[in-house]
This record gives sequence, C-alpha cells and structure tokens, in this order.
Amino acid sequence: MNVLVTGGAGYIGSHACQRLVRDGHTVVALDSLDRGHREPMALLGADDPESLLTFVEGTVGDRQLVSRLLAEHAIDTVMHFAALAYVGESVDDPMRYYRTNVEAGVALVDACVDAPAVTRFIFSSSCATYGDPPEGMVPVPESCPQVPTSPYGRTKLMLEDVLRDTARACAQSSRDLRVAMLRYFNVAGSDRSGTLGEDHTPETHLIPVAIHAAMGKRDHMSIFGTDYPTADGTCVRDYVHVEDLIDAHVRVAERLESAPTEPLAYNVGIGLGYSVREVLDAVKRVSGVEFEVREAPRRTGDAVALYAEPAKIQAELGWHAQVTDLDEIVASAWRWMSAHPAGYAGA
Ligand SMILES: NC(=O)c1ccc[n+]([C@@H]2O[C@H](COP(=O)([O-])OP(=O)(O)OC[C@H]3O[C@@H](n4cnc5c(N)ncnc54)[C@H](O)[C@@H]3O)[C@@H](O)[C@H]2O)c1
Repeated sequence: MNVLVTGGAGYIGSHACQRLVRDGHTVVALDSLDRGHREPMALLGADDPESLLTFVEGTVGDRQLVSRLLAEHAIDTVMHFAALAYVGESVDDPMRYYRTNVEAGVALVDACVDAPAVTRFIFSSSCATYGDPPEGMVPVPESCPQVPTSPYGRTKLMLEDVLRDTARACAQSSRDLRVAMLRYFNVAGSDRSGTLGEDHTPETHLIPVAIHAAMGKRDHMSIFGTDYPTADGTCVRDYVHVEDLIDAHVRVAERLESAPTEPLAYNVGIGLGYSVREVLDAVKRVSGVEFEVREAPRRTGDAVALYAEPAKIQAELGWHAQVTDLDEIVASAWRWMSAHPAGYAGA
C-alpha cells in the first residue's frame, strides 16, 4: 500500500507509521506539529532518503498540498488520525474543533475523492460519538445511538456523516472509494520495541497522568466521583493497547480491498471495563510508587461506564486484542514514560 497517515507525528499516528513501514508499505506522514513531535518521525527513519517513511509538515486543510501529496506518492489508502482531541478544550473553544476536525477533514475527503488512486479511507472516530449510552447499551455495540455530549464528539460524528454520504455518492457514480470508521475507546500503552511513546501536552489521559504522579511530575492524583453505581464507585473505561489498535487498521485496510462499498464502522476496544481506582492501583503496582490519591466531586459530563462490545470486529475481521491485562497495558506505558521523563523533548 501507499498510505497517507495524517497526524502521523502524534501518539497513535506514529505507531501506525511504525507498523506500516515494518510491513513494507510506503508511508507519507502529514502533520502540522500542532500537537505532534518531529522526534518520532526521525526515530522511524524519515530523515533517511532511502526510508519508506516521508514526513511532511503541513495541515490536512491545505487542499493543494494534500492533492499534490496524493498524486506524487500515488496514495491508495488514507488513514486519518489528525485531529484535536480534548473534550474540555472543545467545550471552551468549539470553533477551533469544528475548523480542525470538520472543516479541514472535509477538505481532506474532498481532495481524496478527486484523486482516483485513493480507494480506501480509514477514519479515527471515537466512542465519544456515543455520548452517555442508554441503559442496557454497555458494553457498547455499534448500533448504540450516537448522541455525543461534547463538541469534540460532535465533530467526530460529523466527519462520519461526511464519509458515509461521500462513500454512497461515490458508489452511485462508480468512483471506487471505500470507507471505514473505527470508533476507538481509550487508547493506551506504547510499542514493544520501546521506540515510541505517548507524549501529549497537556496530558489528560488517565494512565499517563497517573504515571506522571508516580514519576513525581505531579504531587497527587484526583478521582472525580467515588459514588457512581459501579463496583468501587468510580467510572469505568475500556483501555485498548495502541499496537492492537493499529492492527485493527491494518486488518480493516485489507478488508476494504474486497469489501462492499457500504461504509464500515467498528468499535475498537478490549470489551472489558477497568475502574479509575483499578487503574491507579495498577500504576502503583507497576511503578512500585505509592502516590497520593485525593477524592473529588464528580465532573459534569463523565459517563459512568463506557466499554466496547467488540463482537463485530472480532467476527468480521478476526481482530482480537492481544493485550487485555491492565498491568500489562500500564507496564507498556510505564516503560517508555519512565525511560523518557522529559517526553520526546529529552529523546
Ligand atoms: N488517544 C485516544 O485515546 C483516542 C481515543 C479516541 C479517538 N482518538 C482519535 O485518534 C486520533 C489520534 O489521537 P492521538 O491521541 O494520537 O492524538 P495526538 O494529538 O497525539 O495526534 C494528533 C496529531 O494530529 C496533528 N494535527 C492536528 N490537527 C492537524 C491538522 N489540521 N493537520 C495536520 N495535522 C494535524 C497533531 O499535530 C498531532 O500530531 C485523533 O483523531 C483522536 O480524536 C484518540
């Protein structure tokens, strides 16, 4: 495959570049570096002219640049990871999210439709498109109503709609463009070789934030809400290992080669829910550090329990998460983060 990976210098996108290059595919990583890092691109060999990986700094909203890259590199597959992805920030500055995740996303899709060699488009969607699932819908199947509760979730659902409409219109006009939406749950961990890691600023994801507490980069951890109707009173989430997630992308790309033209949608999660307390205990066990945990009131908008029903992707693509043990997921994140206390800046 010749793959355009948008957001390739980010956490998940860089892991996609690594796997694709390892599998012998040609990869162009396009990233604005707004939230990503140049270091993982260099670590994956992008500075070597012989490498299968090319890094281009730019935005997916730059129609001219994208069209040129699609043509020059004979791109047949697009994996669209580039986005802004903080729920809280999307509430404070929704226009920034609509411009980046929707407007720039539409420009990208439009450029792909006009590039006849592009036949596969795989979109990083999110469980945030489900909002707070109704009773009886957890674990969450793909048929759960998509009622996002944040601007971030709405931007993801909007681009899903754009892609569904585009795929159907393409099918009617005999333009072969097949689309898949992967709705990730919480992505965690880092690659087995220890090359890549998770380095977000600010960091808001539970596992890396707790690791920061274990590393002494923050003086305590807060649990927001301890009176939820769950086994230990704290919220429950699904943590999928980043390499398993990328494996789902590779499988879906293969499936799109022979798939019907109807858009595909899959949940990507392990199908198990771990509570906030369980995650914090796992970080303490793995790191061997006892950090302070403070109990705080609930935050508005936090769903009680959100974990995937992955039966569809298991049955149709044969995808099964290889890493489901919480300590193993945490250990994989801990390995890179504890070896890189300053993140990529210190690499
Ligand atoms: N991390 C998770 O748990 C999670 C869960 C569900 C969905 N997702 C989705 O997965 C994708 C990747 O998430 P991530 O955690 O790797 O985030 P990330 O911030 O590490 O990566 C996103 C990358 O996109 C780049 N980018 C942003 N806007 C751009 C633009 N207009 N043009 C080019 N590049 C741009 C950023 O610089 C960054 O490198 C996002 O679409 C996110 O919404 C992530």
